[in-house]
Amino acid sequence: MTDMDERNVDDICPTCGGSGWAPTEVAGAVRRCDCWKKQRMARLQASANIPKRYQNCDLESFKTFRDVSHKNAKLQVEGFLRQYPLLKEDDPKKSVGLLLMGPCGVGKTHLAVALLRQLIAQTGEVGLFYNFSDLLKEIQDSWNPIAQTSELDVLRPVMDAKVLVLDELGANKVTDWVRDTLYHIINNRYVKSKLTFFTSNYLDAPSRPGEETLADRIGVRLRSRLHSMCVDVEMRGEDGRTDFAKASL
Ligand SMILES: Nc1ncnc2c1ncn2[C@@H]1O[C@H](COP(=O)(O)OP(=O)(O)OP(=O)(O)O)[C@@H](O)[C@H]1O
Ligand SMILES: [Mg+2]
Ligand SMILES: [Zn+2]
Repeated sequence: MTDMDERNVDDICPTCGGSGWAPTEVAGAVRRCDCWKKQRMARLQASANIPKRYQNCDLESFKTFRDVSHKNAKLQVEGFLRQYPLLKEDDPKKSVGLLLMGPCGVGKTHLAVALLRQLIAQTGEVGLFYNFSDLLKEIQDSWNPIAQTSELDVLRPVMDAKVLVLDELGANKVTDWVRDTLYHIINNRYVKSKLTFFTSNYLDAPSRPGEETLADRIGVRLRSRLHSMCVDVEMRGEDGRTDFAKASL
């Protein structure tokens, strides 16, 4: 027997023999084996498209000492995670996500990823992360005649995911196409009552005269839909890319 053969034999689950079905106390009845559940969870987390830089973000590592708004945001996320599994599928609250709004580096993406990872772990549901600019780029790339994917291949998982995080809403230069694409995605999830979380650098009221609002960036109709799709969570404070990065050196 080679080393490889020995390793493969060792890898086979002793409970289910690799079938994924484990015996129960009832003769002839089987249940999903723990090894199957573990593998499925690993696959779900790996296919959530979370960027490498954020792959370890969790709630434990989200610090709240810098600003009271961070404490509030974390409480909202924790409250959501507590309540969500208790709600019935047809409860309208089941599809109400969070819209994390605030300036650069306050931890919006960190918190959104922490929420998504924990939600997947708690529920075993299919979750997907997309930075909105990256999504637009993937759609544009799919138009290339030699591309292996079509626009629908890119959009379908975004429309279908049980849980979606759309990061950096409004960050792009607003062309008609960007606005139409965003409308198409968000409206599709809105009419199907699909749970969606958003982050955005834009607020509803400009913090400085002349600053654009979220409605300016995404349009009034979409902003209105977001009001019924999400609870607004405003985050303030300094850019964490400077102090948290230094603190970990
Ligand atoms: N409260 C926090 N606790 C721990 N780390 C934090 C916190 N806030 C930010 N960070 C860290 O600082 C960096 C920037 O945070 P993040 O990318 O989440 O900010 P953001 O609000 O999404 O910014 P942007 O608007 O530029 O996208 C990340 O590495 C993140 O892990
Ligand atoms: Mg971000
Ligand atoms: Zn097993």
